[in-house]
Amino acid sequence: MWLLPPLLLLLIPGSSDLSAVIMGPGEASGPERGSLTVQCRYDPGWEPYLKYWCQGAEFRNCRILVGTTGSEQEVKEDRVSIRDNQTSRMFTVTMENLTREDADTYWCGIERIGADPNVQVKVAVGPGSSAVITGPGEARGPEQGSLTVQCRYVPGWEKHVKYWCRGSDFSICRILVRTAGSEQEVKRNRLSIRDNQTSRVFTMTMEKLRREDADTYWCMIERVGSDHGVPVKVTVGPATTVLTTIPTTFTVPVTTEVPTSSPTVSSLHPEGRALLSSVHFLLLVFLKLPVFLSMLGAVLWVNRPQGGSEGGGPPRSENQ
Ligand SMILES: *[C@@H]1O[C@H](CO)[C@@H](O)[C@H](O)[C@H]1NC(C)=O
Ligand SMILES: *[C@@H]1O[C@H](CO)[C@@H](O)[C@H](O)[C@H]1NC(C)=O
Ligand SMILES: *[C@@H]1O[C@H](CO)[C@@H](O)[C@H](O)[C@H]1NC(C)=O
Repeated sequence: MWLLPPLLLLLIPGSSDLSAVIMGPGEASGPERGSLTVQCRYDPGWEPYLKYWCQGAEFRNCRILVGTTGSEQEVKEDRVSIRDNQTSRMFTVTMENLTREDADTYWCGIERIGADPNVQVKVAVGPGSSAVITGPGEARGPEQGSLTVQCRYVPGWEKHVKYWCRGSDFSICRILVRTAGSEQEVKRNRLSIRDNQTSRVFTMTMEKLRREDADTYWCMIERVGSDHGVPVKVTVGPATTVLTTIPTTFTVPVTTEVPTSSPTVSSLHPEGRALLSSVHFLLLVFLKLPVFLSMLGAVLWVNRPQGGSEGGGPPRSENQ
């Protein structure tokens, strides 16, 4: 009876249980007026269930845009379509003719009685023609270190202002640093930007990287109307590897010094080795030392001068 309440709690599917059923890409992006595709996978057993694509910051009150009928037939509503593949246990959502307003939080969901399994997908809509500007897509730098991103552009855009912008939604991204339309380098705090109008490349540098710098950024070219740009996903790795190389170089002499006959000692942790040497020390003090002293005493007693025993010492039985 006392076990029942916790058991019931285990039976009520938690959010982690529900999100394990279905897996999505986490985020997706497409260019303005273009399209994007999202694929969500699901666990065996969920094939005949209805799958849907839902829009809204919160899952519990999101708006279903399109849903399957439990078959593999494609269903299309306006600019959004969905198709389930029950062999590969994956459903595909396509959003066409994207507008900036489509940038939002969406959910891949599976309908059932009770709480629906779901997974979040953040959708970003990039600037229109990405043919004008190309970037590395992603960049990575070490914590405390720096990273450099270079974006290229096609002829005709040399004199335009270039800028570096932060935020997953480019239409409301925060401009961090921008050129004046010249080749002059512009610095702002830990950031700098420089346009090379001969090679048609502009370069951004971020210094003294912090973990919080990890985000989606944009290489942008300013123009009348909608600006051109490409997203750059920035990740910040752990600090330099100088400290981590020390243990590896340190273990080399240890393994060469320790003979192969005692592999357990070399594979022990430093604490283990310290414990082992303290055990050895205790053995030395309490076992080996008394044994050694008693042996020494025995040797001295046997080799004692014979004349010294006269006058009180007990007669030696060995000599009799
Ligand atoms: C489902 O996926 C499998 C494997 O990727 C593929 O061979 C099959 O043609 C797909 N079915 C449909 C209806 O698209
Ligand atoms: C895309 O959307 C725009 C504006 O809503 C519309 O004028 C255009 O016809 C649409 N294009 C397609 C291919 O649906
Ligand atoms: C621009 O790039 C070209 C070719 O890489 C190089 O020769 C030139 O020095 C650069 N200009 C500036 C101002 O850095």
